[in-house]
Amino acid sequence: MSSPHNSAEVGDIADKILLPGDPLRAKYIAENFLTDAKKYTEIRNIFGYTGKYKGVDVSVQATGMGIPSFSIYVSELIHVYGVKKLIRVGTCGGMHGSLNLRDVVIAQGASTDSKIIYQTFGGAIDFSLLADFDLLIKAVDNAKKLNIPVKVGNILSTDLFYNDYSDTRGTFSTGAETLDQKMIRHGILAVEMETAALYLLAAAAQVQGLAIFTVSNHLVRGEETTAEERETDFNEMIKLALETIIQD
Ligand code: HPA
Repeated sequence: MSSPHNSAEVGDIADKILLPGDPLRAKYIAENFLTDAKKYTEIRNIFGYTGKYKGVDVSVQATGMGIPSFSIYVSELIHVYGVKKLIRVGTCGGMHGSLNLRDVVIAQGASTDSKIIYQTFGGAIDFSLLADFDLLIKAVDNAKKLNIPVKVGNILSTDLFYNDYSDTRGTFSTGAETLDQKMIRHGILAVEMETAALYLLAAAAQVQGLAIFTVSNHLVRGEETTAEERETDFNEMIKLALETIIQD
């Protein structure tokens, strides 16, 4: 049996998985970090592979960009294929002044402008979207061992890569602050587009989810990394994610 968006048979996908957005990143991870990697799906060119890292079965599955695309792949991974440990590996845009390009960020929690919490809880509660505590401490600990400095905190999963509240006083802002400035004042470190869905889906199924990013651009300072820098930073983050996901 396969699923609507994934041609893998049940049993083809490991219970531990890395989740990049970009299919070519999934291919890169499979080819450069896993041994005996086999592609199990290429529906819509959204690739997935299973191989081994240090002798442990690990899969890597692209998710596409944004909460709707991510939620489709990850719901099927959890509910059809029985995946139990999921680490998103991606890039984020730095917001907080304490972040620099190329920093590694671990999302302890995810705030969101998406309606997924409202759709799930009907407005009765503003459910907190949290990283799995066990994966979080392991990742922080492994980062120390690997000499990778990390920033841990709250991030924003946005539905809109292009929005009109970042540089202007948008509809949601009040007083003298833009919404971005208010979020930064409340400690939001960075912005990306998927983690809230990972933490919600993981909570609902009681499986383990964590998201790790490198800072590819800084929204406030208008900076961007080069393609070469993104590749080196990506390798460090993948090593951290793989060491964390195989740990018992
Ligand atoms: N916005 C949203 N998602 C992102 C960004 C950004 O600036 N950079 C990397 N992912």
